[in-house]
Amino acid sequence: PYPVYARFRAADPVHCVRSAPGEPGVWYVFRHADVLKVRRSRGLSRAARHRRLCAGPAPDSLFRYSEKLSHWMVERDAPDHARLRAAVAEVFAPDAARALAARTGEIADELLDGIVPLGRADLMTAFAFPLPLLVISEVIGLPREDWPTLLRWSRAFSELENRRPTLALYTEAGDAIDAFDAYLRELLGHRRRGPRRDDALGRVLDARRRGALTEDDAVGTLMLLLFAGHETTANLIGNGVHTLLSHPGQLRLLRERPGLMESAVEEMLRYESPVQTVSIGHVREPFTLGGRTLLPGDRVMPVLGSANRDERVFSAPDRFDITRSDLRHAAFGTGVHTCLGAMLARVEGRAAFSALLRRLPGLRAGDAPARWREGLLTRELAELPVTF
Ligand code: HEM
Repeated sequence: PYPVYARFRAADPVHCVRSAPGEPGVWYVFRHADVLKVRRSRGLSRAARHRRLCAGPAPDSLFRYSEKLSHWMVERDAPDHARLRAAVAEVFAPDAARALAARTGEIADELLDGIVPLGRADLMTAFAFPLPLLVISEVIGLPREDWPTLLRWSRAFSELENRRPTLALYTEAGDAIDAFDAYLRELLGHRRRGPRRDDALGRVLDARRRGALTEDDAVGTLMLLLFAGHETTANLIGNGVHTLLSHPGQLRLLRERPGLMESAVEEMLRYESPVQTVSIGHVREPFTLGGRTLLPGDRVMPVLGSANRDERVFSAPDRFDITRSDLRHAAFGTGVHTCLGAMLARVEGRAAFSALLRRLPGLRAGDAPARWREGLLTRELAELPVTF
């Protein structure tokens, strides 16, 4: 996508798509400065799309889907957004996230024990997908043995969010969300009867007792944490390995100087951003951006993957360089909805790459080429064959 982004940044940095004249517009925002500006704007509403769907005649599957998502903090406006975010914020505070580094390393080692003797693997299936799912399941407090089911639900959700939506995709994702919803309600009931634990489930139950969350909010928050924390981090790992393998000099440098791991992970987040585009809501009050006027009802889509390659901010933006210091990337978003799990994602990324470099010394690309998955919002490999 990067040459296309570059053309838009130069010629039409705030670009509007309309399905028909007079219909509301969808605005794609390509430059770094405009992305920061629009994401901090108060003239946008996240909740509007759900209010609209829930009020109007919509197919049942679409309605059910939208109703569930309307309880997620990422889909809410002030003051509800702050209330929902505060309920689980401490689970993701920098100290708590750092404490998970060792645990992530242990889980990474367990997964690698299974593939080291094989000499080859599809790293997405064997490592990049299960690792963050197992970590986030522990952070939330979900039983480990349930991970294949959780993986299926997470996949159904991302299939819908990442493709041109069809009724079939809505139905599949809606069914997954309904099943996950019922599972979480049962788990909450079970945990209420047991001892308190200090995971996200425990925090959400505390917030329920204080009256800070409804039961729907509690379920929605836990569901969002799994979906938001899984594929994004899997893509950081997959895209990062792929980029290192196609830049052998940088891979060698990282092996020689492990102290560069922190800046290497930031550069991976910039260079192949796991979330390329986010839908950040509907315009509430008219505002101007890059000389264009956005009107109430229009939607706004900042293209984070383009902002992170903006030549106005990054020198030689198409060069992958793990020693970069100009790393003001927007991979985790900006403004009040900035990624809540950013610190955890960084910790997981560093632990995952350290384990891979340590356990797979001869790591190189496999015979078959890596395959990108088609996606509207994320940058994701379908397969990453490697040998070692
Ligand atoms: C929000 C990216 C990992 C939880 C976001 C947003 C982005 C993002 C761009 C803003 C979305 C928007 O404005 O609509 C990423 C990337 C990750 C990652 C690139 C990995 C490399 C995680 C993890 C968690 C997490 C591990 C842990 C559960 C969240 C939550 C929000 C969020 C809860 C919503 C915050 C809010 O609305 O206030 N993430 N994320 N993310 N992320 Fe992440």
